[in-house]
Amino acid sequence: MSLVSIIAIDGPSASGKGTVAQRVAERLGFHYLDSGALYRLAALAAGRRGVDWDDETGVASVAAALDAVFAGERVWLDGDEVSTAIRSEAIGVGASRVAALPAVRAALLARQRAFAQMPGLVADGRDMGSVVFPHAGLKIFLTASAAVRAERRYRQLIARGEPADLAAITAELEARDARDRDRAVAPLQQQPDALLLDSSGMDIDSAVAQVLDWWQARSSA
Ligand code: CDP
Ligand code: CDP
Repeated sequence: MSLVSIIAIDGPSASGKGTVAQRVAERLGFHYLDSGALYRLAALAAGRRGVDWDDETGVASVAAALDAVFAGERVWLDGDEVSTAIRSEAIGVGASRVAALPAVRAALLARQRAFAQMPGLVADGRDMGSVVFPHAGLKIFLTASAAVRAERRYRQLIARGEPADLAAITAELEARDARDRDRAVAPLQQQPDALLLDSSGMDIDSAVAQVLDWWQARSSA
């Protein structure tokens, strides 16, 4: 077991992983890894270079050479701020397509592991507990019903002043979840040693409190 404390939070889109992981990291004074942002950056960078999202070798070499800088919620690609650009649903779909390619996942592995710094890390994604940090001290599978998750995404878009259609969001979310669950490499699934947290009827504070309780129990065991 590494000396760096690691909390791995995996789950489907809009289950609240990012929000919950960031707040837990703040409360514990840990670093935070948004692994999905790396797949989003790889998709965006490939698109900007004219590399097709299905071109495994091409996207993997773009991913290996990503010039990305993170500062809190902001992110730059090749010196260009892309904090908003990587959050679009189109880039989410691109991320899930490039994420199904084994060479792309391999190209991003060391970069993700480099976030594990003292005193600890909270990492969110799809394979944090299975592949990237299999020895994490606490693994959580955070989920919520598809209807609740679609409603959350819908409200998020409305709050940003972006056009939103609940039926289209639900369909896109279910299609992306299916691609993430059914792929051969690092599929989205609850690990046997991960604790299940269903946040369907839970607000953010309660989900954060549950994760902190579990972490406290693990740390004092
Ligand atoms: O990272 P992930 O896609 O799993 O989800 P997120 O971006 O953290 O959360 C999606 C939206 O749901 C955000 O607007 C959160 O504020 C909201 N949310 C919520 O309303 N209740 C929760 N228990 C968790 C998240
Ligand atoms: O915010 P949301 O949960 O919708 O997506 P995200 O966490 O930003 O991830 C975007 C896409 O990247 C996902 O649909 C996955 O296909 C992929 N991804 C992955 O395969 N493995 C990870 N550890 C994180 C993201």
